[in-house]
Amino acid sequence: MSRRIKIFDTTLRDGEQCPGASMNKEEKLTVARQLAKLNVDIIEAGFPIASEDDFEGVRLIAAEVRGPVIAGLARARKEDIERAAGALKDAERARIHTFIATSEIHMQRKLKMSREDVLEAAVAAVKLARQFTDDVEFSAEDASRSDVDFLCRVVEAAIRAGAGTINIPDTVGYALPAEFGEMIGRIMNQVPNVDNAVISVHCHNDLGLAVANSLAAVLSGAGQVECTVNGIGERAGNASLEEVVMTLKTRGSFFNADTGIVTQEIYKTSRLVSTITGMVVQPNKAIVGANAFAHESGIHQDGLLKDKRTYEILTPESVGITAHKFVLGKHSGRHAFRNKLTEMGYSLSDEDIHKAFERFKRLADQKKEVFEEDIEAIITEEIYRIPEKYGLKYIHVESGSDVTPTATVELEIDGRSVRNVSTGDGPVDATYRTIKAMTQAAGHLLSYEVKAITGGTDALGEVTVRMEEGGRTVVGQGADTDIIVASAKAYLNALNKLAHKERGQI
Ligand code: KIV
Ligand code: ZN
Repeated sequence: MSRRIKIFDTTLRDGEQCPGASMNKEEKLTVARQLAKLNVDIIEAGFPIASEDDFEGVRLIAAEVRGPVIAGLARARKEDIERAAGALKDAERARIHTFIATSEIHMQRKLKMSREDVLEAAVAAVKLARQFTDDVEFSAEDASRSDVDFLCRVVEAAIRAGAGTINIPDTVGYALPAEFGEMIGRIMNQVPNVDNAVISVHCHNDLGLAVANSLAAVLSGAGQVECTVNGIGERAGNASLEEVVMTLKTRGSFFNADTGIVTQEIYKTSRLVSTITGMVVQPNKAIVGANAFAHESGIHQDGLLKDKRTYEILTPESVGITAHKFVLGKHSGRHAFRNKLTEMGYSLSDEDIHKAFERFKRLADQKKEVFEEDIEAIITEEIYRIPEKYGLKYIHVESGSDVTPTATVELEIDGRSVRNVSTGDGPVDATYRTIKAMTQAAGHLLSYEVKAITGGTDALGEVTVRMEEGGRTVVGQGADTDIIVASAKAYLNALNKLAHKERGQI
């Protein structure tokens, strides 16, 4: 019989640790609701002790989202575990996920603890967590670089103390598939009480092997895979949910395993996470990239016309990709707009729907057909905006073959109107120089990207910029039918994020 592999989604915890991907609690709730539709088994909603925002995010999701188990992360410390338990109090099914490192380098250099101290702390943490919930997961951080005999002792002790899930992370993305598979195999064979727990894996992508390592572990008996939507996460990211799930689905008979994921929700979830975090999905990304199902070569196109199976191992429909569909137009009413938002996975207050609807009406006047992608851009701009220090009031740009590009920009800065003019190497450069002069911003522009959201010359242009200041990276986005206006909005969005208070971090 095919094994059912549990999907533990950590987009809202490890994914959110990705530079520039932080989300506020309402954004996290929206993503969590979509993850529930995707039917993930567990949502790791955050790290409650990390900050007040993290605590609130987990508390809100635990109170509102039904279906998946809701997990909160905690170091193997009393205060972390109690804080996680507090945040998970209203969950239908709560999991406390506690961890401590087991590799020599982490124990000696970071924790300054002996092996016996770590073993004792792991057991105490699991026992304490079990006082709050029956569902406790224990992770041996940096497991892939740990001594396997010691790791097996810790795993055995954690299971005996009451952990129902044992996670084996490749924290630094160092493992290789054959080696990692063998390590999981050893744990399965060597730990006497292993049958009393689900063995989970959590792989990082530093060498681009996170998905391969996770799948090798499944072949060796792992029953849970921890992953993130679009593979976002710390450094090079985590194993990508969509790649793990679609590999298990496409090659189910090889793995003799499958998941409970509603795969038709994958693309929508990917778009939602990308829109909210501003983490653009690379075009050649497997499963959800813009080119994932685009066949350019004549030979391939010819083959596909004769029989799709010649070059297509999975269909776009199986992950919920349909052609850009005209969805709404200028005659669409508030009711249709609200229904569309619900269908797209957004759950917004009446006030937010009103704001988004007003903007939609303006866009529908400019553009005959409004697509889902346009609506996503509206939501990002109108709803998922952090409080604005800098607001765009007016912009006028002159450029052409024989003129020096010149931008006049008026901003509202902390409620005060300021106007300035600068020239530049092009219209965008002139705009950015003008804004920089007015805001005195120290942020450094790392990248600038522009794309048309849908086809046609009347399409919304979406600009994404990445900026860095004092070691902090943020992503700014702006959309408009005029790409210079979109560029100004994206730049200001990034500056507003940099100006927004730093999140508390551990
Ligand atoms: O990468 C890691 O080791 C983690 C643990 C906290 C599970 O994220
Ligand atoms: Zn991790």
